[in-house]
Amino acid sequence: MDDSDAVGPVISRRRRATIAAGRGATLKPVNGRAASASRSAVSAGSSKPDGEESTQGKSKNERKKRKNDPAHRLRCHQLQESLLSSGSGYRNYRGILNWCVVMLVLSNARLFLENLLKYGILVDPIQVISLFVKDPYSWPAACLVIVSNVFILVALYTERQLSMGSFSEHVGLLVHCINLSVTLIFPAAVVLLVPSMTPVGGAFVLGTYTILFLKLYSYKDVNLWCRELSTVKAKKLARSLSCPSAQHFNGGDQQVCYPGNLTIRDLYYFVFAPTLCYELNFPRSPKIRMSFLLRRLFEMVRETGCLKYPMLASWMIPIIQSSMKPLEVPNHLLWLMFFYWFFHSSMNFTAELLRFGDRQFYKDWWNSETVTYFWQNWNIPVHKWCLRHFYKPLLRSGFSKMASQSAVFFLSAFFHEYLVSVPLRMFRLWAFTGMMAQLPLAWFVGRFLHGNYGNAAVWISLIIGQPFAVLMYVHDYYVLHHRQETE
Ligand SMILES: CC(C)(COP(=O)(O)OP(=O)(O)OC[C@H]1O[C@@H](n2cnc3c(N)ncnc32)[C@H](O)[C@@H]1OP(=O)(O)O)[C@@H](O)C(=O)NCCC(=O)NCCS
Repeated sequence: MDDSDAVGPVISRRRRATIAAGRGATLKPVNGRAASASRSAVSAGSSKPDGEESTQGKSKNERKKRKNDPAHRLRCHQLQESLLSSGSGYRNYRGILNWCVVMLVLSNARLFLENLLKYGILVDPIQVISLFVKDPYSWPAACLVIVSNVFILVALYTERQLSMGSFSEHVGLLVHCINLSVTLIFPAAVVLLVPSMTPVGGAFVLGTYTILFLKLYSYKDVNLWCRELSTVKAKKLARSLSCPSAQHFNGGDQQVCYPGNLTIRDLYYFVFAPTLCYELNFPRSPKIRMSFLLRRLFEMVRETGCLKYPMLASWMIPIIQSSMKPLEVPNHLLWLMFFYWFFHSSMNFTAELLRFGDRQFYKDWWNSETVTYFWQNWNIPVHKWCLRHFYKPLLRSGFSKMASQSAVFFLSAFFHEYLVSVPLRMFRLWAFTGMMAQLPLAWFVGRFLHGNYGNAAVWISLIIGQPFAVLMYVHDYYVLHHRQETE
């Protein structure tokens, strides 16, 4: 057998080995196996099937024999790719990722320390409380959260009337529309008009009401689909769709069929569940894993208490106060930490507590080579809602893909603006413009940049684009309210 024959299997073995290393196997034994396999191919003068090689590799006696084999000493090279070449198939970059984090922390620690020496420790618990409450006798944010129950109960009442036929579909739709509109307008009016409402309290309330709006919209849609199925289609079909078979579910949880789902318990489960899309029978995990729950709780507390607040206080506030220095890196780090805190720790904590089975809250957005991929993968609950309740209905009613995508981004831009401008009582349209700019950016990146260039473009847009737009409001707010005080 000539060399070229031996080369093929060696390359393919190397590729598998590096992929296996990426999956968590240690590199050394894998490399050892591959090397011994190639040696055996040389000494035997022929390549052997994989299974045979691995069995040989596992045998201690064989390894000992090979160590004493003189041919083993004759040859120490083999045809193989360098690990960092794309052809090597190597994917385990964990060490490089850790290096990036260490470099990022070290390069920014100077700024952090400088601020610490200049301004001292700015962590003040009273200041934290004052972010939420301005007047200790007035708690408008908490009151608004309690009032939100009214909208939930109105939605349930309307659905019950619709299921019994007491409301016609038109009347039901009208009541839902009024309920949903008030869900957005009422808290915004309170946030704008009540002086004791703080920006952080206002943002929290509007965030809560926006989530509620999206959930109640989904609740309305799904119940309507159930009614349509049970009236228009055959009874058999309706059953099979509105009440999936038990084999999809774990733990012997009771399955509900429409209208058996129209209960307070069912609706409140959905309100607290980490999803925006309603379903009659959510997939449930068999039990609450205490260790998992505590780990997520620990992460949540650590992220907020030990990392975010000191970072905000000692790192960012002095920069904002001195007003004109670049803010991208601390802002971006804060955004990454927010992602982990919210989409991993908090959502998994809530899901575990409620035994909510679907834990896909994000996908690998960090590998995005296009802007479109990023928006499909970074916030799965919102993306799922957009697809199910807005994008697909628009496509089905005859709108083009471009028009439907633009409509989704317009809606998203509206909510981003709503969540930032109203609590700050300052209308600057940065968030709206930032979201709408995603459409031309998606086209540009998709058309001209591919692979790693596309990925770099997505990262650059995240580092200087999206968080920067949010920070523009904070900056303007600070300049508007605190410059006058200091001057
Ligand atoms: C606009 C948006 C919904 C487009 O999503 P997308 O995945 O690129 O859309 P696609 O055109 O690839 O189609 C997606 C789905 O629609 C389906 N579809 C396509 N044309 C269809 C048609 N004419 N009728 C019905 N369905 C259709 C596809 O089959 C696909 O279905 P699947 O998900 O079950 O596979 C997405 O970019 C998005 O969610 N943007 C906003 C995100 C956002 O604002 N997030 C806020 C985070 S803070």
